Amino acid sequence: MRIGVLTAGGDCPGLNAVIRSVVHRAVTHYGDEVLGFEDGYAGLLDGRYRPLDLNAVSGILSRGGTILGSSRLERDKFRAACENAKQLAEEIGFDVLIPIGGEGTLTAARMLSDAGLPVVGVPKTIDNDISSTDRTFGFDTAVGVATEAIDRLKTTAESHQRVMVVEVMGRHAGWIALESGMAGGAHGICLPERPFDPADLVTMVEERFARGKKFAVVCVAEGAHPAEGTMDYGKGEIDQFGHERFLGIGTALAHELEHRLGKEARPVILGHVQRGGTPTAYDRVLATRFGWHAVEAAHRAEYGKMTSLRGTDITMVPLKDAITELKTVPKDRMDEAESVF
Ligand code: F6P
Repeated sequence: MRIGVLTAGGDCPGLNAVIRSVVHRAVTHYGDEVLGFEDGYAGLLDGRYRPLDLNAVSGILSRGGTILGSSRLERDKFRAACENAKQLAEEIGFDVLIPIGGEGTLTAARMLSDAGLPVVGVPKTIDNDISSTDRTFGFDTAVGVATEAIDRLKTTAESHQRVMVVEVMGRHAGWIALESGMAGGAHGICLPERPFDPADLVTMVEERFARGKKFAVVCVAEGAHPAEGTMDYGKGEIDQFGHERFLGIGTALAHELEHRLGKEARPVILGHVQRGGTPTAYDRVLATRFGWHAVEAAHRAEYGKMTSLRGTDITMVPLKDAITELKTVPKDRMDEAESVF
């Protein structure tokens, strides 16, 4: 069998672990050939690929990023290319495609699958917002980075009696803010799923200062918004990939709190630090298992599906179930962290 593999969308710690695992299982167990498309779907459409053998994936397990490169998808261009998907596979000469990516990548995978191309998807995103899988690799790493940042910010905040507003990634789902906020013991957490009122944060900070705790850390997801009428904060434009351009809630909220409290407040934007660097052991293991199961699914001709973690088991689920809605933070998970909302 000839297996094509690609990584698309925002990169994520653990991508290389999947590539390595696919190559190991495919080459060593099945005697397959693996082709790595460069820069995501762009490489597939332009026919840019290279063979991946055991040497090509040696030493990449612990490496962040992706050895294949990645790019975001321009959906209109892609839609047009889908019409020739089967012909493309015949020309390049591969039997099955394993795209590794988030919601956009899996939507594209579904389109290719509908167009008749054999596809087995592997979900990834640090945001952990893909339905039909309990976890995506990359999330654990991002939560670890954000938690360490909160730990560090607490000591400097305390020294200067400041409020620190840490902005973490999380476009539509606040999983990183929720879990790093809980793990780091943030005093306030703001998620995209629940518009917040800055007045509640002001009350929280004042109460802390009143009982002698003269600092506070607020963890805010980049996609969080204030409740209507509570603070001046607009909505950004939509870019060519269909993403809202964020206006910087961390900075806006820090200014707002400083103004309302009359105390120093500083924004800290963690940004792509959360996505770069070496994956945690948990993410390496999950990524490796996903790669192994993707190859198995390819050999069972279980197409139009993606790997999924359910409890501790890996199962295959239809791609269509994974992309119909995003997995956002449910109310009961927010309630567990309520004291800090
Ligand atoms: O989807 C993953 C993600 O890291 C989001 O959390 C974030 O909003 C986005 O990617 C950033 O994308 P880019 O790297 O294109 O700026």
